[in-house]
Amino acid sequence: MIVLGIESSCDETACALVNEKGEILSSVVWSQYDEHRRFGGVVPEIAARAHLEKIDLLIKEAMDKAGKNFKDLSAVAVAGGPGLIGGVLVGVMTAKSIALCHHLPFVPVNHLEGHALTVRLADKSVQFPYLLMLTSGGHCQILVVEGVGKYCKLGGTIDDSAGESFDKVAKMLNIGYPGGPNLEKRAKQGRILKDLFPIPMKGKNNCDFSFSGLKTAVRFYIEKNQPLTEEQINDVCASFQYAVTAEIEDRLKRAIRIFKEKYPIGRHLIVSGGVAANQYLRSHLNELAHQNNLTFSAPPIQYCTDNGVMIAWAGLERFQQGLTGTFDFKARPRWSLDSLS
Ligand code: KG4
Ligand code: ZN
Repeated sequence: MIVLGIESSCDETACALVNEKGEILSSVVWSQYDEHRRFGGVVPEIAARAHLEKIDLLIKEAMDKAGKNFKDLSAVAVAGGPGLIGGVLVGVMTAKSIALCHHLPFVPVNHLEGHALTVRLADKSVQFPYLLMLTSGGHCQILVVEGVGKYCKLGGTIDDSAGESFDKVAKMLNIGYPGGPNLEKRAKQGRILKDLFPIPMKGKNNCDFSFSGLKTAVRFYIEKNQPLTEEQINDVCASFQYAVTAEIEDRLKRAIRIFKEKYPIGRHLIVSGGVAANQYLRSHLNELAHQNNLTFSAPPIQYCTDNGVMIAWAGLERFQQGLTGTFDFKARPRWSLDSLS
């Protein structure tokens, strides 16, 4: 069984071929950093045009690298949303065309389901149900993954996502685009000043997040201390990264209690999405899982940020369960994961 996965919902054009053993036959990712850098963020119109320019070339490259033809495929999967609608349309139209021409099943996948299931490709010990911290540029939520297509949301952000706040703080500090990875590098050279910034939802009686107050606190600090020295920039990065991680840990502590009570057979705590590439966050969540008798796992770092493998794998898991789509599927700018249940 071989599935082609296509991803074009934000600023990465990506495709990959995976098989049912979880072997990655090929994976190509083209990041549109150069297109968006001078704007300091993703411009939807530019993203859509760039996807259109590259997508067929990338699919050819992925097929060639894997040494496969369309007739070797079992299904075509695509991120059908949520995301920037222009890019999603490009991916969905391309996937439908390939599926129609080659008489293949068409599998629209929720982009978040791609993030939610990828861990199972590399770590076969991860069984349902598992507790998932999904933290990307567009989303920040805690879910119980009960099965393929079965999600129960325990909490989400009431304003920004963690990834968005990494990007905005990096922009304020002028440390380059994309923000998250650059901020992590600078944080490694800085001191963690625990009281510098607030941990917004600490102790709140739910599993929700908030990052906008933290972002504003960083902005005030920067404005008050102009011009910042390189050391101060590094300290802001380390202290901000600490506050984001502390917020996530605090919210997860509550979620773990709920998870253990409602799903006593659950064994794993998983982190996924672009921010899961952050090694400081990964090591702290590993520790948290340990303290709570859970096993920590996460997708390999290169499959945390958007890629084709996660869509191909989620498509394969859906296909195996008979959960394919139909050609009247409409690209979706919004699409909540728990609505799949
Ligand atoms: O999953 P993703 O590639 O795209 C969305 O689905 O949104 O996540 C992108 C987000 C960006 O906000 C980026 O800054 C963040 O993930 N990110 C990181 C790191 N690598 C990517 N944040 C913190 N540390 C990183 N190493
Ligand atoms: Zn994503």
